[in-house]
Formats: sequence, C-alpha cells, structure tokens
Amino acid sequence: MSIQDNFRLAMRRYIYSVSIMSNKDDNGDLNAITVSSVTSISMDPPSLLICINKSSRIHDTLKIGTKFCINLLNKNQEGLSNICSDEDSYEDRFKDENWNIESVPFLKNAQANIFCKVDKLTSYHTHTIVVGLVENSNHAEDISTLTYVDGKYQ
Ligand SMILES: Cc1cc2nc3c(=O)[nH]c(=O)nc-3n(C[C@H](O)[C@H](O)[C@H](O)COP(=O)(O)O)c2cc1C
Repeated sequence: MSIQDNFRLAMRRYIYSVSIMSNKDDNGDLNAITVSSVTSISMDPPSLLICINKSSRIHDTLKIGTKFCINLLNKNQEGLSNICSDEDSYEDRFKDENWNIESVPFLKNAQANIFCKVDKLTSYHTHTIVVGLVENSNHAEDISTLTYVDGKYQ
C-alpha cells in the first residue's frame, strides 16, 4: 500500500469535531465550508488554526485582517455539514434559519462560535494554514458535538 493510502487509513481512526467556517467577503458575499482541521494554538494570544484547501471557494477570500467565524456543530447539524461540504449545494448553504448574517455570519444554535481575524496565512502545497486570532467566543451549555470518524458521522 502507498504511503498516502496508509496515511489516509491512519487518519480515518481519528475522531474529528465538525465545524463550519463562515465569512462575508469583500463583495458582501457569504461563504461557508465544513472543516475538521480546527486546532487551538495558544491562549496568549488566543488563537487557532484551520487548514483550507486552495481549491475551495472560501480560500481566496481569507486575507490578513479579514474576519471569520468557526461554528462548532451539534449532533443535529449533520445535514448542514453535508450542505457545506458539497460543492453542488453552494446556493443552499445559508438557507438555514439559524444563520445570523448581519455582520460576520454565525450559526445561533451551534455548540460554539469562535470569532476570529486572520493573523497569518502559510501556504503548504494544496492547502493554506490559516491562523486566526480569537476576538470573541461563546458556547452552548450542553455538550453535544457532531463528530466524524472513519468517513462517517457519529
Ligand atoms: C467532515 C468534513 C471535514 C472537512 N474538513 C475540511 C478541512 O478541514 N479543510 C478543507 O479545506 N476541507 C475540508 N472538508 C472538505 C470541504 O468541506 C469540501 O471540499 C467543500 O465542498 C469545499 O468548499 P466549496 O464547495 O465551497 O469549494 C471537509 C469535509 C467534511 C465532510
């Protein structure tokens, strides 16, 4: 088996939390993408990173200083995760009534919302590592996080 195939199978053993990264770009257009690559970096400064594929629509809208939100999904939001990871469902991504799109778009009923400003962009082959400086966050009381393992939601 190739290094890539073995690596893919190894990574499928990880349990991922599923989030949607959302923003409003310079043209006022709304973007949302399902991501599992969210990792906190530090508390001082409060910061996290996400790895974004260069072929995704949101990619080129992520410039230094622009704002975005990481919406950690709950177990009832599998459908929205599918919509935001299906390139043919782009028009449906903001149909959910729980989006607040007044400013930086965020999901009112997510497990958590982490509001960030892009602080650093590091290109690595097919992906860009996006470092977000956390400006604000909130979270639900109950813990019911949508998780993904072996290519399936749990
Ligand atoms: C559970 C899950 C996690 C994902 N995580 C990431 C990720 O961390 N980074 C990424 O670039 N794409 C990730 N994807 C793939 C994108 O969501 C998918 O390719 C999406 O269609 C790209 O956005 P676009 O259709 O707007 O171009 C993930 C997909 C799923 C189902």
